[in-house]
Amino acid sequence: MKKRLFALMMASMMVMGAMVGCGGGGSDEPAPTGDGEETQGDAADGNTDMSNVEIGVCIYKFDDTFMTGVRNNMQAQADTLGAKIELVDSQNKQATQNDQVDTFITKGMTALAVNPVDRTAAGPLVEKASAAGLPIVFLNREPEPDVMQSYDKVWYVGAKAEESGTMSGEIIADYWNANKETADKNGDGKLQYIMVTGEPGHQDATLRTEHSVKALQNAGIEVEEIGNDTAMWNKVQATELMNAFITSQGIDSIEAVLCNNDDMALGVIESLKANGYNTGDASKFVPVVGVDATAPALEAMSTGSLLGTVLNDAENQGIATTNIAAMAAAGQEITQDTVGYEITDGKYVWVPYVKVTAENYKDFQ
Ligand code: BGC
Ligand code: CA
Repeated sequence: MKKRLFALMMASMMVMGAMVGCGGGGSDEPAPTGDGEETQGDAADGNTDMSNVEIGVCIYKFDDTFMTGVRNNMQAQADTLGAKIELVDSQNKQATQNDQVDTFITKGMTALAVNPVDRTAAGPLVEKASAAGLPIVFLNREPEPDVMQSYDKVWYVGAKAEESGTMSGEIIADYWNANKETADKNGDGKLQYIMVTGEPGHQDATLRTEHSVKALQNAGIEVEEIGNDTAMWNKVQATELMNAFITSQGIDSIEAVLCNNDDMALGVIESLKANGYNTGDASKFVPVVGVDATAPALEAMSTGSLLGTVLNDAENQGIATTNIAAMAAAGQEITQDTVGYEITDGKYVWVPYVKVTAENYKDFQ
């Protein structure tokens, strides 16, 4: 937690430092960077007056636990910077989102930030931004590389989904290795697991699925998939899916459940609990792992119903997105010095994932 707060403070201070440096007023001290070096910010001749910054933000749908965390952090960071921001709900409809972007442009917003409904439909949004000469920052749903290259004022803020897949697989592998006798319920030497995936086509769903299984195999564990389906990132859908798997497979043949996010892991746990599992009796336990480290997931870890998760850092993803949009709207060059985050290939910010286990979950609460 301390580390995250530090990163947050640094990111805010750097942007503000760049503003102050440019305005030429007030501070004698250069703003520190996250890596301990000092900088004036790369703001020598740009217009850093945040009063002209108005960021129009489209979120694929407001009713998404993780994205709610990201958008709250975007709002808070805009307030910190003194930049205007307007966040709208695209209600999971790409056509609605396209209209919202048109409206933002007509209203004279000076930057766009978009969490696409369909990441393969980002191209037309970039064309709109480019026709209006506006910067556009995508987040959480990664556009295709050719779209990212089609305009110089497009950026992406996200996290390397492979990392989260690997970490969630490792959490299950560690459990398996530490509980050899009880974890292999049918004693066949193989781990029978169920995979509950996010929305098809989402890079996080595809890569978390693939890399979580790879991590198990890399740990030398023989695996057998006995169920795999999408619950669309959704808790209620995951409960229904798990009920169906329990009915078809029998609860005792399920040796682990890997979920692409925490909402679905919590939905799976509801189903297990309704069947008398994961309520504290060690002989009736199915290890479940998620991704995000949401507050309810950390709570489930404290009671032992959820084995582990992976921090998907909503705070830093929100701050990075807002900083880039604000600084680009203010005419600044986008560099680590101006936005507080390393910029890869001139366009990408990759916020690291963190493995969350029984040993460290309290640090995230
Ligand atoms: C999160 C999910 C969320 C999805 C939305 C993922 O990175 O892990 O919880 O539903 O993004 O796009
Ligand atoms: Ca087995």
